[in-house]
Amino acid sequence: MHPFSFATTAQILCEAGAAVRLAELCRERGARRVLIVTDPGIARLGLLDAVLAGFARADMAVQVFDRVVADPPEAVVLDAVAQARELQVELLVGFGGGSSMDVAKLVALLAHPDCDQGLGELYGVGNARGRRLPLIQVPTTAGTGSEVTPIAIVTTGETTKMGVVSPLLLPDLALLDADLTLGLPPAVSAATGIDAMVHAIEAYTSALKKNPLSDLLAREALRLLAANLDRVVQDGSDRDARQAMLLGACLAGQAFANAPVAAVHALAYPLGGHCHIPHGLSNALVLPQVLAFNAPAAAPLYAELAPLVLGAQLRAGSALEQTEQLIEALVGFSLRSGLPTRLRDAGVSEALLPTLAADAMLQQRLLVNNPREINQEQALAIYQAAY
Ligand SMILES: NC(=O)c1ccc[n+]([C@@H]2O[C@H](COP(=O)([O-])OP(=O)(O)OC[C@H]3O[C@@H](n4cnc5c(N)ncnc54)[C@H](O)[C@@H]3O)[C@@H](O)[C@H]2O)c1
Ligand SMILES: [Fe+2]
Repeated sequence: MHPFSFATTAQILCEAGAAVRLAELCRERGARRVLIVTDPGIARLGLLDAVLAGFARADMAVQVFDRVVADPPEAVVLDAVAQARELQVELLVGFGGGSSMDVAKLVALLAHPDCDQGLGELYGVGNARGRRLPLIQVPTTAGTGSEVTPIAIVTTGETTKMGVVSPLLLPDLALLDADLTLGLPPAVSAATGIDAMVHAIEAYTSALKKNPLSDLLAREALRLLAANLDRVVQDGSDRDARQAMLLGACLAGQAFANAPVAAVHALAYPLGGHCHIPHGLSNALVLPQVLAFNAPAAAPLYAELAPLVLGAQLRAGSALEQTEQLIEALVGFSLRSGLPTRLRDAGVSEALLPTLAADAMLQQRLLVNNPREINQEQALAIYQAAY
């Protein structure tokens, strides 16, 4: 067996309805002043109402920073840090999708009284030092798995994103409460759910750090996600299916936090940067073509995953044939949810494809994990096939 290391969030609370006890959970950790980091959409939906009532009952000081935007730029992080410092907060709560949770992670680090680093010094792997404030993550999408990853992604320029990767970013508690996801619109449910599936698939084929624990988690994640995605898209109020999706996304997050994602994400990021396509949809748009490209190297592993998605519908065949069935089944999720399946239908111009391919090559942090080496020409061919 190859040596490996595995780290994850210390505690996971998987319980529908548990968010109303958030104040108690903060107090158990000794915090008296709390900042909740979220986005305006979530605040508007009233998802925080019961949570804030709990803080009032517990007579605890709480403020809400609700200015997170999708693919958060640096300015949002810095605004939130300023608010946290002003309140002298003792605990951060990330409450929302990956965007809100990623901002909360960075605030927990940068608003710590002993912090002597600026945001710009943190980008890359292992550059953060010192300590962070206690951090609770409450996902309201079943997608990124940010509640269990040591990663925060920030938009740094017009079209570029950078990641901070550090064990310091692993939260203390992930609270998985399906009630918060009941109102997630079908298209967001589908795109974020496919993002989670991609985490599981790419972790399972991760070239350098694939390991027995990440495999176990990736397999169970994919099984849960595939069995429940159609259900939540058809009936958003299906509480059991919503809780299963949250758990699936969390397990997939644990898998890829330790066996990182690869070319699907590397080719998806430029779509987010240049065309402002949401992260999950960007992944869904290039997923079939990247898996087909990887098949000569990874078909045996894809064939191991195929039964978890197709169940009894999987037909006997070679590893390559089963990979084709897996790809077809994955595209089925997009089609049934009404997501666009071609780049042209998602507002991408054909003239942009060479730029996207050049940008994808900048994601070497991810590309080294791909089961098949990929150059710029091949990346362009993948975008063209997805066009
Ligand atoms: N840290 C990581 O490990 C990691 C991994 C993958 C992606 N990311 C990052 O996460 C971000 C994407 O996160 P995301 O896909 O969760 O989306 P998001 O956080 O950007 O939110 C997308 C939209 O969904 C809405 N929304 C969220 N929860 C809702 C709910 N319960 N009901 C109704 N609407 C709701 C939000 O208001 C927002 O408009 C990107 O910045 C991406 O780079 C981080
Ligand atoms: Fe992702």
